[in-house]
Amino acid sequence: TAKSELKDFLHINDFDKSTILKILDRAAEVKALLKSGDRSFQPFKGKTMAMIFAKPSMRTRVSFETGFSLLGGHAIYLGPDAIQMGKREETRDVARVLSRYNDIIMARVFAHQDILDLAKYSTVPVVNGLTDYNHPCQIMADVLTIIEHIGQIEGTKVVYVGDGNNIVHSWLLMAAVIPFHFVCACPKGFEPDKETVEKAQQAGISKIEITNDPKEAVKGADVVYSDVWASMGQKEEADSRRKIFQGFQVDENLMKIAGPKAYFMHCLPAERGVEVTDEVVEAPNSIVFPQAENRMHAQNAIMLHLLGV
Ligand code: CP
Ligand code: NVA
Repeated sequence: TAKSELKDFLHINDFDKSTILKILDRAAEVKALLKSGDRSFQPFKGKTMAMIFAKPSMRTRVSFETGFSLLGGHAIYLGPDAIQMGKREETRDVARVLSRYNDIIMARVFAHQDILDLAKYSTVPVVNGLTDYNHPCQIMADVLTIIEHIGQIEGTKVVYVGDGNNIVHSWLLMAAVIPFHFVCACPKGFEPDKETVEKAQQAGISKIEITNDPKEAVKGADVVYSDVWASMGQKEEADSRRKIFQGFQVDENLMKIAGPKAYFMHCLPAERGVEVTDEVVEAPNSIVFPQAENRMHAQNAIMLHLLGV
């Protein structure tokens, strides 16, 4: 709906290209200010944010909480036991109550419907901090990182190797807005959601390929991207997936095929020795830590946009 497109940050493709680029520009601008040590920019002064976490987190929790407080606001962490959305209390009640105390709500949930319901019943902006379906703040930070290291996202070749999961869906929805070359190499049966692939392809903006051949996929890559093989909520499948995903580990051989210009990226947390080797994470062309840092700057800019400050 038009309402959610304007009020909330739920999916990257709810926004048009100029808005996404504007947010990324703002992220770079506020990042430079914060990195200079300047703390005079306090646009969130007197504002509070409720952060709902149904799943564990390090980056999302700390980057949102730190970012919001560096810009003058106060963030409240509500962990998995606190609200128990849908169990202790209905999502629509959570949304309406938190809206009465807070200026913005950030949530990390299991079912994607939960974030849609929160946004529907909340009168304040809702930011998606990861669902089973997508992780838009992550991919905003990733694109910011690519722009910093490569100079631009347009025309770059990003090759994701692994499970066709929430990270892939957000890459696909980014590719529906900004032109680049996105390839997902995953085992058979672990492809991303078909409708999302079609939506991204039908947008006609980017070149999009889904393949089961990682070696072929990474040729000429500017970025090789990896994520865990078993996401939060799938950890009981970890052992069986390790067998199925053999051949999809990002190791030095795969990075060699990608070529010397290829950067390595991973949203983290990484399981070294599983989806990626220790050598690849620690290599000079690995940009996983600048990438993690940029979570805060991308999210600050998203919140500035939503709060209109
Ligand atoms: N990348 C990411 O979202 O990390 P956390 O799960 O630690 O928040
Ligand atoms: N796909 C991972 C991303 C973690 C940031 C998960 O959902 O667990």
